Amino acid sequence: MHIAFFDSGVGGLTVLHEAIQCMPGERFIYFGDSRNAPYGTKSREQITGLVLQACAFLEEKKLKALVIACNTATSVAIQAVRDRYDFPVIGMEPAVKPAVEGSSDKRVLVCATDLTLKEDKLDKLVQGLHAEDQVDYLSLQGLVLLAEHFEMNAPETDAYLRDRFSGIAWDAYHAIVLGCTHFIYFREHIRRLIPPHVRIINGNKGTISNLISRINQESSFEKKEIQYFISGQKADTGHFEKYLDYLNNTQTQQL
Ligand code: DGL
Repeated sequence: MHIAFFDSGVGGLTVLHEAIQCMPGERFIYFGDSRNAPYGTKSREQITGLVLQACAFLEEKKLKALVIACNTATSVAIQAVRDRYDFPVIGMEPAVKPAVEGSSDKRVLVCATDLTLKEDKLDKLVQGLHAEDQVDYLSLQGLVLLAEHFEMNAPETDAYLRDRFSGIAWDAYHAIVLGCTHFIYFREHIRRLIPPHVRIINGNKGTISNLISRINQESSFEKKEIQYFISGQKADTGHFEKYLDYLNNTQTQQL
């Protein structure tokens, strides 16, 4: 039995990367729907259709769990997936809770895709935490395709981030939430552009703890095994592994 990770493209590899470190004896499948990325600019109906199509493909692989390693897909399609399948389906949402809990009197900047920011699910999450007066929102949708094109260090990336961050009075904030799995590739870059007192928070660790609590872990496989698919077709391992290598090489403890 496999644990599948699904995303609109390469973003979910940042979550798989976390899983590989915590769950060495598991067999993984990674499905990146890169031919249809980005999701964040599509309609709810389009995204739900694409997610269900991917799930129909993954179901054939006999899953012990599915991680929807995409905040955007989770916000619109997780219920439809849970209604159809018996295996545990783990979703993601922007890590607003740890961000507001760590707060004193300063604000939290939640960054996500256009669609995640428009959805009621995020409003409900913030209202449930009584944090409406503490949170601001910023779309960093442009980072999704920059990550798909492996342009983490391109001049366009720097120009894009500087433009999106211009005008933000960082003294008013104590944390920034990376509420899209593609954004994790830009942590270092973001770290260099914002003051050190602003913490950079993401939900990947929480998602993997949630996954671990939902399954029986196996340790019978000595070697990690990952099968990769792009939009339903077997993918070249190197294409995805260069992203995992990038994460290994840029990981920092203190962000
Ligand atoms: N990785 C995705 C997320 O976590 C979606 C990016 C996109 O395709 O727009 O929201």
